[in-house]
Amino acid sequence: MDIAIIGTGRVGRVLGERWAALGHRVCFGTRTPEAAADWVQEAGATVTQPAAAAAAADVVVLAVPGTAAEAVVETLGDLSGKVLVDCTNPLRSDRTPLPEQSAAERIAARVPGAHVVKAFNTTGSQNMANPVYPDGRLVMPICGDAADAKATVAALAEALGFVVMDNGPLRQARALEAMAFVWINQAYGQGWGADFGFSLLRR
Ligand SMILES: NC(=O)c1ccc[n+]([C@@H]2O[C@H](COP(=O)([O-])OP(=O)(O)OC[C@H]3O[C@@H](n4cnc5c(N)ncnc54)[C@H](OP(=O)(O)O)[C@@H]3O)[C@@H](O)[C@H]2O)c1
Repeated sequence: MDIAIIGTGRVGRVLGERWAALGHRVCFGTRTPEAAADWVQEAGATVTQPAAAAAAADVVVLAVPGTAAEAVVETLGDLSGKVLVDCTNPLRSDRTPLPEQSAAERIAARVPGAHVVKAFNTTGSQNMANPVYPDGRLVMPICGDAADAKATVAALAEALGFVVMDNGPLRQARALEAMAFVWINQAYGQGWGADFGFSLLRR
């Protein structure tokens, strides 16, 4: 699969490196492609400007700060028919929530033809590098309005080692973004650090 990763921070880099290692064609979209050239090559991926990366991809992964997400998505060109994975959380720099609708719904409104799936926002990037714990695998809740797009993203998450939980339509992103705040506050407000995550029990 051709995957564009928009943003080369903690989340973008770990997801892109892992999917490249699993054999996907990964292209990082960054504001500074020259600065990333060495580690991108080592990862077996390619790098270019964000819009060029998105144009060539089936799946576009948005891994930029919540405060920049809506502006960045509008620079990516026509995303019609593509899967847009929204990993962002609507956080200010002091980690307090941005108000109103979910980030995912606001992003979807700006790219009407894209199939937006909320995913990879409810746990830390260390857990994306390795979601397997001694007692089991972490859960990755996802939501979105397009079944095919969700199936694509579910397969990508399962390939990383997550147990996927489909939480329903994109409006559920409001809940998944709130779930992220629980993880973030436990990690950094309550001092647990990043080596924990949510798992799923069913009967
Ligand atoms: N860190 C986590 O554990 C975690 C977990 C789940 C979800 N999230 C969410 O995922 C998103 C990415 O998180 P992150 O931790 O990877 O963030 P980060 O380390 O700060 O990286 C964000 C990247 O976004 C790109 N970017 C594009 N426009 C930008 C702008 N105007 N200002 C700053 N950066 C810009 C930059 O890449 P280029 O310089 O290459 O353009 C930057 O490296 C956030 O919305 C965050 O809330 C984070």
